[in-house]
Amino acid sequence: MNRNVTNEQHPAMKRIRFGVIGCGLMGKEFASAAARWCHLAGVDFAPVITTVCDANPAAAEWFAAQVPSVVATTTDYKELLARDDVDAVYCAVPHNLHAELYADIIAAGKHLLAEKPFGIDAAANSRIMEAIRQHPDVLVRCSSEFPFFPGAMQIVKWVEEGRFGHILEVEAGFWHSSDLDPTKPINWKRMVAMNGEYGCMGDLGMHVVHLPFRFGWKPSSVRALLSNVMETRPDGKGGTALCETWDNAILACDVKTEDQQFPMVLSMKRIAPGHANTWFIRINGTRFSAEYSTKNPKQVSSLPYEPGGLQAWHTVDVPYKSAYSTITGPIFEFGFSDSILQMWAAFCDEIANRGRMLQPFRCATPEEAAASHRLFTAALQSQREASTVPLVWEELH
Ligand SMILES: NC(=O)c1ccc[n+]([C@@H]2O[C@H](COP(=O)([O-])OP(=O)(O)OC[C@H]3O[C@@H](n4cnc5c(N)ncnc54)[C@H](O)[C@@H]3O)[C@@H](O)[C@H]2O)c1
Repeated sequence: MNRNVTNEQHPAMKRIRFGVIGCGLMGKEFASAAARWCHLAGVDFAPVITTVCDANPAAAEWFAAQVPSVVATTTDYKELLARDDVDAVYCAVPHNLHAELYADIIAAGKHLLAEKPFGIDAAANSRIMEAIRQHPDVLVRCSSEFPFFPGAMQIVKWVEEGRFGHILEVEAGFWHSSDLDPTKPINWKRMVAMNGEYGCMGDLGMHVVHLPFRFGWKPSSVRALLSNVMETRPDGKGGTALCETWDNAILACDVKTEDQQFPMVLSMKRIAPGHANTWFIRINGTRFSAEYSTKNPKQVSSLPYEPGGLQAWHTVDVPYKSAYSTITGPIFEFGFSDSILQMWAAFCDEIANRGRMLQPFRCATPEEAAASHRLFTAALQSQREASTVPLVWEELH
C-alpha cells in the first residue's frame, strides 16, 4: 500500500505527519491519542500518522485497519525514514534497538519522540546524544507522561512558586505488582539482552526522575539497593527461563542544590504488592509539604505551615486541568490515556511552535534522559561495590 499525504487539505491547522516505528503497546497508545485530538481545545497543530513500521507485519496491520490516515506499512524502518510524508517519528521498540534506530531517525532529519530509557545503557545513550549534537535542528524528546496528571502539574506549580521552604526530604517512585505472580511468563522486559542491565530502573526509572531532574534536583551521590527476587520465570513454552533483571530498586540519593541539601529516595519496583501502576512524588519542607500519587488520581494533598501553627494535611479533588485545555469539564476524572494525550500535545506544540509553545511544560529532554543514565549506571556500581557512589554533574550538552 502506498499513497502520499500532503498538508494542503487543512491549511489552518499545522499537520505534523508521523511515522510510528514499533506498533506494540505504546505505538497503539499514540494512535489512540491522535484519533481523539478533537479532545484538545485551542491547539493549532495535530499529528497525522501516515506510515507505520513493525518487524512483525501483523502488528502494523492493526494500524492499517484502525487508523484511516495510514497510507503505508513496512517491516523496514529505513523505508519509513526515506518517505517525504514523514516529518516526525514515534519510536517504541525494545531497549536493545534504541541506539541504532534513534540515531538513524535523527540523521534522517525526522523529529523524534523516543521511548525511555533512551538507550539500553550509558554507551547507547552517548551514541544517541552524539546524533542529537550532529543534528541540532531536529527536535528530540523522551516519553514521560505522568507529570501531565493534574495533581502532578499542581506539584510542579508549587515547586516553581518556591513554596516549600527548606526541603526536608523528597520521595518519588513508580511501582508495579504483576511480577509478584511467579506463573507470569517471561517477556523481553525481563531479559537483560533486550531490556538492559538496569532492569527495573531502565523500565520504570525515567518516569521517576523526570520531575526531580526538571526541578534541578540531581543527586551528588547514590547508594542503591537492588533486588532480583524472581530468578526464573515460565518461558511460555512449557519450560523455565532465567530472569536476570533487577525486580526492585531503591536509590538513596543526597541532593545538593545552590542553597539546599536534602535526601531523596527514588524507587522503581516491579514487585510492589497491590500497586498496578502507582507513580508518586512526595516533598516535605519546613513551610509546605505536598504529595501526589496516581493511586488516588484525583487527590492532591498539601500541608502549609507557619511557625507555631497547626500541622494539618489538606486533601482536595484536583480539577481536570492539565497543560492543555480540553473539552472535559473540571469536575471529571483524568486518567492514563489523558496523560498520554497531553504529552503528545506538548511534543507537537514544540515541533509547531518551538520557543513559543502554548504552555511552558515541555516533554522530558535528552539531557534529562542522559542524566538518568548517569544515575542508573552509578546505581549499578553502588550495588556491585556495596558503596555510596559520588556523581558529578558537569553540563550535559
Ligand atoms: N511511556 C510509557 O508509559 C511506556 C510504557 C510501556 C513501554 N514503554 C517503552 O516503550 C518501548 C516499547 O515498549 P512496548 O511496551 O510498546 O513494547 P511492545 O513489545 O508492546 O512493542 C514493541 C514493538 O516493537 C516491534 N519491533 C521489534 N523490533 C523491531 C524493529 N527492528 N523494527 C520495527 N519494530 C520492531 C515489536 O514487534 C513490537 O511490536 C520501550 O522502550 C518501553 O520501555 C513506555
